[in-house]
Amino acid sequence: MPLADDLITGFDRALRTVAGVHQARRASPAEPLPEAELASGERAHAAALMRVNHVGEVCAQALYQGQALGARDPEKRRALESAAREEEDHLAWSAGRVRELGGRLSLLNPLWYAGSFAIGVAAGALGDRWNLAFLAETERQVGEHLDGHLGRLPEQDARSHAVLEQMRAEEAKHRASAIALGAAELPVAIRRAMRVAARVMTIVAYRI
Ligand SMILES: [Fe+2]
Ligand SMILES: [Fe+2]
Repeated sequence: MPLADDLITGFDRALRTVAGVHQARRASPAEPLPEAELASGERAHAAALMRVNHVGEVCAQALYQGQALGARDPEKRRALESAAREEEDHLAWSAGRVRELGGRLSLLNPLWYAGSFAIGVAAGALGDRWNLAFLAETERQVGEHLDGHLGRLPEQDARSHAVLEQMRAEEAKHRASAIALGAAELPVAIRRAMRVAARVMTIVAYRI
């Protein structure tokens, strides 16, 4: 029953994503680095920023899962699945960092996941060129967002910086691979709408 298997695997993955219990396949880039001395306000700020990044990864995970369902071409489906595996590491690393900083994950993760999954399924249904276009644009916006957070994190928080830098490098690679596989260029209006949605998410997830 391949469809039932897919559904069960997908559901299991969704639950683990929302609960923040993904296992990383690779060690966190933070691992070799010492924990910084942070004032309590700085620590809370860093934890909130890392919670936002974790939500971004929850969304990426849902988007990839939704899109992989619709990808027609096996080569593209494989590329989506391989990027999704790296996104699982990002999920685990950012969740780990939130916990190390004494923070908690977003209470709205089920909502973020469901919304992004729906967008992913819709993008997947539009065909591979548009599916990849959404992906390339998402990865671009996530990369820009990570740049912003790298500037806002307390400078001495080397462990968070290491996680975000590795994620940023991999998002750039995901974007390049989506473009190489033939991503279309999204209309400006859609790119703007995505930016607005991402902005709302970052403001809300910083707090909740
Ligand atoms: Fe990611
Ligand atoms: Fe990515």
